[in-house]
Amino acid sequence: MAPPAPSVQEATIHSNYGEKYADVNWDELGFSLTPTDYMFEMKCFQGEEFSQGNLIPYGKIELSPAAAILNYGQGLFEGLKAYRREDGHIVLFRPEQNAMRMKMGAERMCMPSPSVEQFIDAVKQTVLANKRWVPPPGKGSLYIRPLLMGSGSILGVAPAPEYTFLVYTSPVGNYYKGIGTPINLIVEDKLHRATPGGAGGVKTIANYSPVLQALTQAKSKGFSDVLFLDAKTGQNIEEVSACNIFIVKDKIISTPATLGTILPGVTRKSIIDIALDFGFQVEERVIPVEELMDADEVFCTGTAVVVNPVGSVTYQGIRVEYKTGVEAVSQKLCAMLTGIQTGRIEDNMGWTVEID
Ligand code: COI
Repeated sequence: MAPPAPSVQEATIHSNYGEKYADVNWDELGFSLTPTDYMFEMKCFQGEEFSQGNLIPYGKIELSPAAAILNYGQGLFEGLKAYRREDGHIVLFRPEQNAMRMKMGAERMCMPSPSVEQFIDAVKQTVLANKRWVPPPGKGSLYIRPLLMGSGSILGVAPAPEYTFLVYTSPVGNYYKGIGTPINLIVEDKLHRATPGGAGGVKTIANYSPVLQALTQAKSKGFSDVLFLDAKTGQNIEEVSACNIFIVKDKIISTPATLGTILPGVTRKSIIDIALDFGFQVEERVIPVEELMDADEVFCTGTAVVVNPVGSVTYQGIRVEYKTGVEAVSQKLCAMLTGIQTGRIEDNMGWTVEID
């Protein structure tokens, strides 16, 4: 079906890149919202299954003030990316992983979820309808944000009577300053992002505003981001506000195990597989903060963040610096991951899905 005409302002064409691109300064992309032409919407009632969705012009949505998402945070989101390869084809990176994670999260949040096929189909349709916003090769990616929310009205605490699945997109560049530029983390030892038995292991929208206080304070002191500790003992490292964390010591790569309070990141999983493929020993386990302070190297992973080296960590006033640069393990892993994503390296893992 041909997508409907966009109601948002038609973008002009960027003269440097020719007719197939929207008018974006691709060299200046950061991680901020650039509205695109279309979004995908699909609705269903509680107790039913999602069936038919549509592309609609990107724009505001109407919600009751009593919508469960607004009152009780009954919602999940996902994040994945589309890349334009040098050969001109557009690829998605492991979309089935995001689809499965949304299904798991929906169970935890008592929501119906699109099937894996519906999720991937919606993502493909949305990307193709917004094709001109997929950055030129090497200039960034199209970030895809699927949302699942309790959109029906409810006053008492209970699952909403109606659900909406939305997919919107935005061209993006680097989350932090620049890929490869080391970030400086501070360890937060009072506020927590997730608790045992809570929802830290699923991508609920409610996991992100609890980090804002610590993040704002950290940024005001000049840090790039915050690393949270486990809420039970306050002794072990868990997750950064929007990404997973890895440490490297004597060439052994370790990352906190996903035991319910840590998001099972798609990039995290991919980096573990790439590292194993390179022959590294990889451990998923409990990591005391002391080990972080004694590591040779530290890096973060995430869809938005990709793989970012950590230059320093500050914990209880003590600052430790880590190895970064071309010799760092994270550089090698990052080069392989981004090579596969962008088509510079052959995808022997079968992770990329060509959609045009
Ligand atoms: C992602 O990497 O897709 C995320 O979810 C990070 C987002 C919170 C900015």
